[in-house]
Amino acid sequence: MAEATLGGSTEAISATELAEIGLRFEVDGEIATITLDRPERRNAQTFATWSALTRIGDNLPDQVRVVVVRGEGPSFSAGIDLRMFTPEGVPGQGSFGTVAGLGDAAFEQAVAQAQRGFLWLRRPGIVSIAAVQGHAIGAGFQLALSCDLRIVAEDVMFCMKEPALGLVPDLTGTKPLVDIVGVPRAIEICLTARTVGAQEAFRLGLAELVVPGEELPQAVRDLAAALLSTNRDAATATKRLLQGAPGRTLEEQAAAERAEQAVRIRALFASS
Ligand code: ACO
Repeated sequence: MAEATLGGSTEAISATELAEIGLRFEVDGEIATITLDRPERRNAQTFATWSALTRIGDNLPDQVRVVVVRGEGPSFSAGIDLRMFTPEGVPGQGSFGTVAGLGDAAFEQAVAQAQRGFLWLRRPGIVSIAAVQGHAIGAGFQLALSCDLRIVAEDVMFCMKEPALGLVPDLTGTKPLVDIVGVPRAIEICLTARTVGAQEAFRLGLAELVVPGEELPQAVRDLAAALLSTNRDAATATKRLLQGAPGRTLEEQAAAERAEQAVRIRALFASS
């Protein structure tokens, strides 16, 4: 597996810099793996985590088709680093107190910047898989929700804790949550800040697969291999179609299918 130094449209980020932030990024052929790697803090996330995720997305090597997001240690992620609620904040990164003092435009920009770290995981050209064990709380739950698919260990504990802390979930998690479980169940899960375990997550569609913890890495490898077995351009076009379907009428979706298929069939015959 290659250790990556990222360059490109945004500033380069080295493996050393990522390690300081508590992340690893590895590319193995068409599969990239992002590892939250601060198990001693249960992979708590900071502003730096989200900017680094954005930079990884901005510089993703072209050959990558599958992105795996995983966490080192017993928990996927215990959410936001609770030091951000203290006056001192996270060294070098400030705190929510700093953000609260921003004007409207700067506040909007700061949150939008954090959200960019999550949004790219939905790009049509890739399939993102969250491999989730143990706690996935708040920002951790939202990071898992920002991926296309979730494979979970039997000990998974999803919790949208933000409302219990006086916040709303704002790291792009509310839309996928509602899309998957519907508004009433999303209200119940978020406004009680309760824990959703593996079997319920599977039943609700929050997890595509539940496996014993020790089988999680192999289950992710198997799914990645299956995803890579299809034609890349057709997979991208199909994901785009599926993503657009909820916002279209049946007739509009049929038209979108025709438009995508015209490109596919012409490309197939042009290359034969
Ligand atoms: N931020 C900073 N440090 C954390 C966080 C966090 N979110 N979560 C855990 N840690 C640290 C603990 O302080 C502890 O540090 P220490 O060893 O120096 O005492 C270490 O990680 C291990 O944590 P434990 O609580 O001992 O681990 P345990 O496995 O028993 O519990 C659990 C894990 C349930 C995740 C617990 O740590 C917890 O509740 N964390 C806070 C979760 C939270 O409220 N997150 C914010 C959600 S809201 C949002 O994300 C927007």
